[in-house]
Amino acid sequence: MKVAVTAASLHDAKADGLVVGVFSDHVTAPHLRALDRLLKGALSHAVKTDAFSGKGGQTLAVDTMGSLPARKVLFVGLGEKDKATAETLRRGMGNALRSIKRAGLATVATDLATVSIKGVTPEAAAQAVAEAAILSVYTFDALKSEKTPPHVKQTLLVAGKHESRVRVGVRRGIAVAEAACWARDLVNLPGNALTPTYLADEAKKMARSHKIACTVFDPARIKKEKMGGLMAVAQGSAEPARFIILEWLKGPKSHRPIVLVGKGLTFDTGGISIKPSANMEEMKTDMSGAAGMLATIRAVAALNLKVNLVVLVPSTENMPSGTAIKPGDVATALSGVTMEIVNTDAEGRLILADGLAYAERYKPDCVVDMATLTGACVVALGLHASGLFGSDETLVEQLRAAGEATGERLWPMPLWPEYEEQIKSDVADIKNVGSKGGGAITAAAFLKRHVKSPWAHIDIAGTAYNDTPRHYLPKGGVGVGVRALVAFVEARAGSGK
Ligand code: BES
Ligand code: MN
Ligand code: ZN
Repeated sequence: MKVAVTAASLHDAKADGLVVGVFSDHVTAPHLRALDRLLKGALSHAVKTDAFSGKGGQTLAVDTMGSLPARKVLFVGLGEKDKATAETLRRGMGNALRSIKRAGLATVATDLATVSIKGVTPEAAAQAVAEAAILSVYTFDALKSEKTPPHVKQTLLVAGKHESRVRVGVRRGIAVAEAACWARDLVNLPGNALTPTYLADEAKKMARSHKIACTVFDPARIKKEKMGGLMAVAQGSAEPARFIILEWLKGPKSHRPIVLVGKGLTFDTGGISIKPSANMEEMKTDMSGAAGMLATIRAVAALNLKVNLVVLVPSTENMPSGTAIKPGDVATALSGVTMEIVNTDAEGRLILADGLAYAERYKPDCVVDMATLTGACVVALGLHASGLFGSDETLVEQLRAAGEATGERLWPMPLWPEYEEQIKSDVADIKNVGSKGGGAITAAAFLKRHVKSPWAHIDIAGTAYNDTPRHYLPKGGVGVGVRALVAFVEARAGSGK
């Protein structure tokens, strides 16, 4: 999908289809009345007969019958104007493009970036629309014999009176959405294709083309570094583990880097504490945290942001085998903390422990990890928010705000000392499963033991994978977190911390 900006008016735009935003409380806005007249009253008729009211999620397709250069006008409901946000534009654009899947409109033009919404700048509006256009037409066909090219090949954003600002937003939207689509590709690849070695090679390739420094540790180096958590999980697999390091240090030397850590579990069988077979194939997505962090640094580099950013990815499979870890085994993490492995399916926290401890070598401004960590987080928040945990209130609030602004909700969860009591072990410092209740929180409490710097943890178990397509999210890998984290990095590093 190409996204471009046009100085033309919506009516004159060179496109097969026009996507026009309609607020439910402004269905008779002057520009809509003009369009309605050209369309011989099709919009007002649909409003009168209740076929279309401008409610969020609604669309109305009208044939222009030669009254405009475009073949079709697609009205898209945006709901009440006062309640609108940038996410309204993203969902509107997504719903519009989804609704014309079989309409044969190869190019569309839209006025959505010119819609004025309180608190949304022209840059942010344009970015939102560009992102949604790219994210909506994404399909994963790498492994299909027959390829499915995107049903819409180009989206033109009508710039209105803020052309240069719209161009800035579009450029950002393209960089962020393309990175998120790359993350989706990685998530959608099956475990036999996307091994730790393959993930590291993809990271290297991406780093080379974006001028990011990249180092990859092999099992010998991982052992030398004493990454005991990663080694423990990897010992049951025939696939060698990797520890991926990406560095984009383009900010002022005096600024400490932000370090992002992503869970790179390329397939999670549960190990000896094996998972039930129903839906186990979804565990190929257990590297979504890694994919999101890799895509975040890719977008940051593509935008040439002057920030100091490091991404760390411990990567392995979790397999049952004669060499696998057993319940009751004890491993020593890079932090020196000893960990009793009560359940081999709680493996994410074991490998993240080493990533978090390694992050301390950078004397970081802050450390943020992202992981498909717990089913308990899905129980708590469902599919519409990722869990947010942390040791530093400012950091947590900055992440929450970035999530809110980008339509990737991050919802703060408590991390009181009582939860830390739940992971005390009889034989080691901590155990990898907490006593009953609060499973997402006790997992966070486990991670907390391995970092000293301001730290936050994002649990994306419920948000990394989408079962049923909705607005700009197709089925499969979501590429979750990329938009929120790019916004966070920019705000945090930009504020001079
Ligand atoms: N990768 C899973 C978590 C997960 C569950 C991700 C559902 C996506 C969807 C993680 O490694 C895991 O197995 N966690 C266990 C922990 C438990 C054994 C303490 C879980 O949540 O059941
Ligand atoms: Mn697991
Ligand atoms: Zn897992």
